[in-house]
Amino acid sequence: MDEGRDGSGRGRAGLASTAGYASDAERLARQYESVTFDQVHRDVLPYLDVAPCLACDIGAGTGRDAAALSARGYRVTAVEPVKELRAIGRRLHPDAGISWVDDALPVLREINGPFGLVLITAVWMHLDAEERARGLRRVAGLLGHGGRLALKLRHGPVPPGRRMFDVPPAEVIDGAAGLGLELLHREHRTDLHGRDGVTWSGLVFSRPARPRPASDAPPPPHGCGGRGPGSG
Ligand SMILES: C[S@@+](CC[C@H](N)C(=O)[O-])C[C@H]1O[C@@H](n2cnc3c(N)ncnc32)[C@H](O)[C@@H]1O
Repeated sequence: MDEGRDGSGRGRAGLASTAGYASDAERLARQYESVTFDQVHRDVLPYLDVAPCLACDIGAGTGRDAAALSARGYRVTAVEPVKELRAIGRRLHPDAGISWVDDALPVLREINGPFGLVLITAVWMHLDAEERARGLRRVAGLLGHGGRLALKLRHGPVPPGRRMFDVPPAEVIDGAAGLGLELLHREHRTDLHGRDGVTWSGLVFSRPARPRPASDAPPPPHGCGGRGPGSG
């Protein structure tokens, strides 16, 4: 694989995973910000309602979700490889207290866990098979015990100038299971923007909580897990 400077691979027709985003950033920003965090994550909200903690939004775009999490009390790192989108995110959400990081899957050199919540929304289908396998290992390693991973995959036609792959949810579910992550929720939804043929898979995983020692020690500092559906 020919890897770009940002760690995002180049695959189909020589395109990078971020192809098409920089040149269209202002229009895409209006589209991303025309829907809310609550609308986008409607069915998974109960699984995201763990105690506020450290969260990481990977492929954060304009920071819509990062800002919403921040407003809910999370300390949020927003990873976004496209500088035009980071700049718009800073402009649109100046007071959200988001830490913006220039980094990319699958390597994610610049960030360290553990996070109580990792969000990957509308990003995974941009990665080729090798990047997805490597990226999932990296993401699983960023989750703290009891931490949650919420991932949304786009299906359907590929917009011109973008790189996308048809990723079956089963691939992510099997890969995550192999890394010890438990599937809490799976959904398939129509597109909020009403685009022809576009549908979405939503998956929520949990890294099992560390078994409580006999001394009943306090939970880890990222402070997530133990509340919401599927927390056991
Ligand atoms: C469809 S947008 C989604 C943005 C945001 N998550 C949202 O839901 O509004 C896809 C995002 O993935 C980012 N992206 C593409 N390749 C990436 C990679 N290798 N690592 C991290 N993010 C990537 C793009 O720059 C873009 O911000």
